[in-house]
Amino acid sequence: MLITGGAQGIGFAAGAAFGKAGATVVLLGQTPASGQRAALLLQNQGIDAVGDGTDVADHRAMDELAARLGALAQPDIVVASAGVMSDRMSKTLRTDPAEWKRVLDINLTGVWNTLRVFGPPMVARRSGRIVTVSACLGRFTGPGTAGGLAPYRVSKAAVNALTRNFAAETGWGERGVLVDAMCPNHCRTNMGGPHAERSAEEGADTIYWLATSDLEQRAEVVGARDFPLTGLLWEDRQIVPF
Ligand SMILES: NC(=O)c1ccc[n+]([C@@H]2O[C@H](COP(=O)([O-])OP(=O)(O)OC[C@H]3O[C@@H](n4cnc5c(N)ncnc54)[C@H](OP(=O)(O)O)[C@@H]3O)[C@@H](O)[C@H]2O)c1
Repeated sequence: MLITGGAQGIGFAAGAAFGKAGATVVLLGQTPASGQRAALLLQNQGIDAVGDGTDVADHRAMDELAARLGALAQPDIVVASAGVMSDRMSKTLRTDPAEWKRVLDINLTGVWNTLRVFGPPMVARRSGRIVTVSACLGRFTGPGTAGGLAPYRVSKAAVNALTRNFAAETGWGERGVLVDAMCPNHCRTNMGGPHAERSAEEGADTIYWLATSDLEQRAEVVGARDFPLTGLLWEDRQIVPF
């Protein structure tokens, strides 16, 4: 399995969970060095981990990364966790063009690049799981669209749309590939800060569950069978409205 943003925070916690369950884990950071540092931490726990990295927003660098990874670029599970928060004062009219571009490039184009580079082998094989790490702030309901943090909120709303659209393109799970978005909730990471209510491990729980549950198991948990249980937004192993 492979995780962007796997060098720290929620992505790293997810990688540790998969590794402890016996998976080979590819942790990607912004640079090869950050990915390798994180992989060493898992290797020291006896986990089969590989670290690498590049800027997810850089199309060519992502192609080069995939070429470098060889067979590891054909994982059965892909988690797109790499992301950045926008400036604290980034209301719509207070965001400068460079900040808008930075956040959209990493949070949205970075997820698309991840799908573009690592999705095709899954689609060809008709088997795989993709989990995009979104945020409550990107929802059109609940805590979403409450104003402020415009680049971040819009990037995550767009990640939700990208995820659902790709789920439709892959047949809503009928062709072996499940594609879902999830909200980890506020977690103690570099992004979430030290006072968040959840640990990174708690935030990663739904990632692990989505990547390891089949449609039947999902139906048991949410108690519904009459619609495709993929292409959705999840939080705490439950569906939340976009
Ligand atoms: N923490 C929260 O409270 C919270 C809440 C809701 C949603 N989320 C979402 O959860 C995801 C993970 O957040 P986190 O809290 O784990 O953040 P984090 O601890 O800051 O980790 C972010 C990860 O993204 C990587 N990254 C950043 N920019 C990148 C780029 N341009 N190219 C490639 N990788 C890049 C970082 O790489 P390096 O390690 O190399 O720097 C790091 O591994 C994000 O998508 C975030 O929006 C977080």
